[in-house]
Amino acid sequence: MKGFFIKTEVEEFDTFEQFVKEAGLGSDDLVFCGEHTYNDYVKPLGVEVQTLFRDRYSKGEPVDSEVDAILDVCRNKKFGRIIAIGGGTVIDIAKLIAVAKPEYNVDDLYDNAAELKKHHQLVAIPTTCGTGSEVTNISVVNRVSKGVKMGLAIDAMLPDKAVMITNMLDSLPYKIFATSSIDAMVHSVESFLSPNGCSISRIFSTEALKTIISCWKKAVDNGGGEAWKEFAADFLKASNWAGLGFGYAGCAAVHACAYPLGSVYHIPHGQSNQLMFAPVMKKYKELQPVGRINDLEAIIAETLGCNADEALEVLYELMDEVLKSEPLKNFGVKESDLPGFASGVIKTQQRLLKNNYIPLTEEQVLDIYKAVF
Ligand SMILES: [Fe+2]
Repeated sequence: MKGFFIKTEVEEFDTFEQFVKEAGLGSDDLVFCGEHTYNDYVKPLGVEVQTLFRDRYSKGEPVDSEVDAILDVCRNKKFGRIIAIGGGTVIDIAKLIAVAKPEYNVDDLYDNAAELKKHHQLVAIPTTCGTGSEVTNISVVNRVSKGVKMGLAIDAMLPDKAVMITNMLDSLPYKIFATSSIDAMVHSVESFLSPNGCSISRIFSTEALKTIISCWKKAVDNGGGEAWKEFAADFLKASNWAGLGFGYAGCAAVHACAYPLGSVYHIPHGQSNQLMFAPVMKKYKELQPVGRINDLEAIIAETLGCNADEALEVLYELMDEVLKSEPLKNFGVKESDLPGFASGVIKTQQRLLKNNYIPLTEEQVLDIYKAVF
């Protein structure tokens, strides 16, 4: 058994400028980010750094061929630290750059996972309030060539520094706030329920959950829309704590069931988690109503001011206020897809399913998809 540890140094700043001064950014550093992020935050400061713009290669979540193209470009660059500034996609790709041997492509990384070593120091600066990728050892790639979206998890990919800067969320559009904060909420719940959690990881999961849902409620009560920005610093911190929780305890069936929706129908990660969250929790309650899920209900009830027996329903309704949930068929999913999704989840997502509140069979996973079709 591996004990709880935080290898990544976590720093907090109010502004990006404060970080740049403290870190002494310079020409040996490779800043990896979206071009708009560079223009908004790095360029105005006039610091001389090397740049690699992620959006020149792809727009959505990481796909193997696009990551291969980025690794190709890095082959011809000489640089020291990687400064990854972005959402989960940017940070996940940066983790792969940090450990890739010059000749490696994505398949080589997955095939040689056990031998990977870090070649570049990695500094991760999140610009969303969701993935927690800045403190986890996981990188998720949609391996189109293999027909599966799956995570690679090795400690060599843990960022050396996670830098939490409140003003990086200033220009975050509402939809990305909504999907990323839902992702972080799901991280907190899945890691809280995970049988592979420990008392320390559950402190992070619990505080993340309480912060996210209480700030959602305050933002909704304040009229929704941009009201969340008043709590941006709290959402950012909570996503980091949720990352520390699931970095140890793992995510589970919600993420596992969401992956095919992302890889086949390109539903954003946080949104696909939202679609699968309620049906997975309902299945858990149906199969094992007494257990750690009651502790979860008590935390939600205390935070949202409701009874424990209605807590999950109240949470689903609150999440719906943040982003309206829709049936899978509204995203183009066909009923005939569902059996293949269920068997694929059982075959390829055991890394996640081992962290379930209770084990699920292929038939039960199929029920979960059907419940929200
Ligand atoms: Fe996630």
